[in-house]
This record gives sequence, C-alpha cells and structure tokens, in this order.
Amino acid sequence: MNDLIERAAQDLARAKKVAALTGAGISVESKIPPFRGKGGLWEQIDPMEYAHIDAFRRDPAKVWEVLIKGMKDVIDQARPNAAHLGLARLEELNRLQTIITQNVDGLHQMAGSSDVIEFHGSFAWQRCMQCDERLPTQKVSLDRIPPLCQCGGVYRPECVFFGEMIPPEHLARSQHIASRCEVMLVIGTSATVQPASYIPVLSKQSGAKVIEINPEPTALTGSVSDYLIAGKAGEMTSRIVASLERLI
Ligand code: OAD
Repeated sequence: MNDLIERAAQDLARAKKVAALTGAGISVESKIPPFRGKGGLWEQIDPMEYAHIDAFRRDPAKVWEVLIKGMKDVIDQARPNAAHLGLARLEELNRLQTIITQNVDGLHQMAGSSDVIEFHGSFAWQRCMQCDERLPTQKVSLDRIPPLCQCGGVYRPECVFFGEMIPPEHLARSQHIASRCEVMLVIGTSATVQPASYIPVLSKQSGAKVIEINPEPTALTGSVSDYLIAGKAGEMTSRIVASLERLI
C-alpha cells in the first residue's frame, strides 16, 4: 500500500496535465450513500421506477416523495471530506486541472476545486418543466409535492435522469480532457454507467496513467487502470497529497 501511495505521488509529481473522474464513493465519507453495493440506494429502490425520466414524467409526486426529497435532506447536510479537500489541494499544487464528476452534490466546488464538470448535472438547481424558470434547490418549498412553479409547471432537479442525454458540452469537454491528460485519477466509481465509464478508457488509449482509488476492484481494475489503491477515498487521497508535498 505505501509503495502505491508513493508511486501515485511520483506519477503526479511528474505530470503536467492531470484530470480526475469521481463517483458516488468519494462522497460516502460525507454521509451520502452510493448507488451500488452495500448500503447502496439502488438496493432499496429500483432506478427504472424512480430515476428514469419516463417515471418522473408519469408520476413526479412519487419520484419527489421517494427519491428527490431524501436526496435534498442528505445533500443539504453534506460537507466536503478529506478526499474532496485533497483534490482541491492538488489543484493548488498545480497537479490537477479538471475534475469530471458523476456526482450532483456540489461538494468538489464547496471544497474549493475551480474546474468541475458536472457530467450528470447538478442538484443545486431546480428547473420548471413548463417555462424553464430556475430556482435554487435550497429555496424550494416542500409544502407541496411535487413543488410547482408560479406558472403551474413541475420543478425537476437539473440532474440527468436515466433515459436523458449527457449535456453535449460536458460530454465533449470531458472527452477532450480525458484524451489529453497524462494522469487520470479515478476515485469512488464502479465505472458501470456509460458514457462516464468510458472516460478512463479514453485516457488509457491516449497513453495516460490511470490510477484508481476504491476499496473494491471495479470494471476498470486490471485492464484499464495501471494500479488500484485499495482503500477509502479520504484517507488514500490525503496520504497521496502528503507524499506529493514531500516530493515537490
Ligand atoms: P456507484 O454507487 O455505482 O459506485 C460507488 C463506488 O464507490 C463503488 O465502486 C464502491 O466500491 C466505491 N466506494 C464506496 N465507498 C467508498 C469510499 N469511502 N471511498 C472510495 N470509494 C468508495 O457510483 P457511481 O459509479 O458514481 O447516475 O455511479 C455512477 C452513476 O450511477 C451515478 O452517477 C448515477 C448512478 O445511477 C445517474 O443517476 C444518472
């Protein structure tokens, strides 16, 4: 383990262009549950019944009641953990330029990272499905479910539901960055949802080192990633940053 931490620090010390792809696992230590695996959200509810855009259109009240209200509570309380702060520190050290995140919780920005591509959108805003008016999620009243805009339309989070496209500008920019970086840090993602899971593949094909941080092996381990640092995001990221600071 110590060897791999040191190896990651050396890889980062040598690299000029570094990107990160993060997933739900990076926010687990901020008390936001992941989707898959032990304690995962999709163990409790069926994503096709609650997280597909057709399900939302059919019955927005049901999706608000079961999924979105709970997400709001959890995200409202969440604060960045050592992994989010570690990535912000890597940016300060000029060893990380862009984070591509599948998360919608805004914790990278709260930790101080300045270039965050929100691949699956953001939970910070709601948008009226009828007139497109936007409202910060913190200002949405839950007295009525689903919450309605003044025009009578239903508010939806600005997240990507299953069955929806990734915002084209986010997809294009992520692909551009993934194919030009020298190191791609992949933290806390099962790498099972396309097209996000293709981002590290693109980096690998373009000659980058792909470093994974995850307590478990993933779909990338042993094929796409050069090595897996097996552990929790907070502790592993802090240790890598501490080693890097000794090196540079
Ligand atoms: P998943 O829930 O699929 O995977 C979470 C990953 O985090 C797993 O590989 C865990 O082993 C790992 N993990 C758990 N605890 C960790 C910790 N403390 N530190 C580091 N890693 C940890 O989450 P994603 O890969 O992000 O999409 O899921 C991708 C997409 O699937 C989500 O963005 C969401 C979901 O359906 C949409 O809703 C469109």
